[in-house]
Amino acid sequence: MLGGLLEAERGGDLDAIAASGLTGSESFPLHLDAASRADLLKDVYMSVSAEGGRLLYLLARATGARTVVEYGTSLGISAIYLAAAVRDNGGGRVIGTEIQPEKAARANRSFAAAGLAGEIELRVGDARETLRDLPGPVDLLLLDGWPDLGLDVLRVVEPALRPGSLVLVDDVEMNFGADVHGPLLEYLAGDGYVALRLPMADGIQVAVRL
Ligand SMILES: C[S@@+](CC[C@H](N)C(=O)[O-])C[C@H]1O[C@@H](n2cnc3c(N)ncnc32)[C@H](O)[C@@H]1O
Repeated sequence: MLGGLLEAERGGDLDAIAASGLTGSESFPLHLDAASRADLLKDVYMSVSAEGGRLLYLLARATGARTVVEYGTSLGISAIYLAAAVRDNGGGRVIGTEIQPEKAARANRSFAAAGLAGEIELRVGDARETLRDLPGPVDLLLLDGWPDLGLDVLRVVEPALRPGSLVLVDDVEMNFGADVHGPLLEYLAGDGYVALRLPMADGIQVAVRL
């Protein structure tokens, strides 16, 4: 299942970006609202790499994560890695969020095909709203939606993060044509977290909530 999804991502994303009319990361449509950007890019996976996915699985296993929250699920690749870890930790839930309804429907079909539908609850809508109501302490948060909104989403989820939980931010070294990650990374460098940059793929920031 994952192999097929990752292959489709590799084979299709450049074509889908070209079809959207965007020519490069410098032209990421920061001027559009979150839903309009998502509609424009609705056929683009933008997923974690296989290596990034293995990192997610490894970190979720190492921390015994049972409750995981994901900002930006897209077509479900990272959620499948995280849900497999939650399952192998003894069971729990990945709460994903996707603002683009067609993407969410496709992701749900993949979760069923992967046998992980029971571990994943996908909330459709803007994560700044859909993550306001979270069950119990959160063990791991992946921030992988539009990066300029990452700090807003962290602030919504933060009250539910348990001390020692992990916050992961994908694509921190990707060029979006503006310093979109700056406020979030500055916040994670503050007193509430210990953070470190992992120089893999497009850069993954790993932080522990103190
Ligand atoms: C980089 S992709 C996520 C990739 C996914 N985590 C994976 O590795 O397979 C970003 C996704 O976040 C979604 N997104 C962006 N802003 C959002 C928001 N405010 N609320 C919910 N989803 C959002 C986009 O529609 C897009 O599908």
